[in-house]
Amino acid sequence: MKFFLDSANLEEVKNALEWGIIDGVTTNPSLIAKEGVPIEEQIRKICDIFEGDVSAEVISDTAQDMIKEGRRLAHVHRNVVVKVPLIAEGIKAVSRLSKEGIRTNVTLCFSAAQALVAAKAGAYIVSPFIGRIDDLGWPGMDLIRDIVTIYRNYDFKTQVLAASVRGSLHVVEAAKAGAHIGTLPYKVLEQLFQHPLTEKGLEQFLADHRRAFEMAPV
Ligand code: G3P
Repeated sequence: MKFFLDSANLEEVKNALEWGIIDGVTTNPSLIAKEGVPIEEQIRKICDIFEGDVSAEVISDTAQDMIKEGRRLAHVHRNVVVKVPLIAEGIKAVSRLSKEGIRTNVTLCFSAAQALVAAKAGAYIVSPFIGRIDDLGWPGMDLIRDIVTIYRNYDFKTQVLAASVRGSLHVVEAAKAGAHIGTLPYKVLEQLFQHPLTEKGLEQFLADHRRAFEMAPV
């Protein structure tokens, strides 16, 4: 499973890179807005410190303008993947951009039918939003399972990126469901390492060792 960091914050990107387990970065207009820097400038800064796929989302609402914007974003850096919302105009743009060799991440996916359309349009990645489906009281993970099954049935090359991930359970369940990628907010990435028994066990190891060798506390 590939881990992407779901953030446009340079400090979070730098810190996450130190773990050596990040394969990509995803952003969206809300994450870019939080940084207060125009998207092309912020995406270039991320691409300057990270060697991997970086998703940058269009904000236009017509296919024609999405295509123009997508071409512009793709030129920011060779690692840019153009994020396009899964709406009718977006699918027209994805079909055009994929024919031009521009990789797309089709986002705001909430149904298997939408995911089927995205794959047929040539999407490089599709982003089903697990957490927001859970928020409605529906099992978001079922969507991941359905999409993975459908894509396997027809050998679609589009990668399933589990998005709107709210905790380590989402990561584990998405991995079990066969998602190719999970995009994780920084706080979720940190959660993956944490377990109280690990902390308790390490504390005991070090206490026993100190007691045996009367060493100063580490
Ligand atoms: O990758 C999409 C993500 O940024 C949205 O997450 O928690 O706002 O649904 P959330």
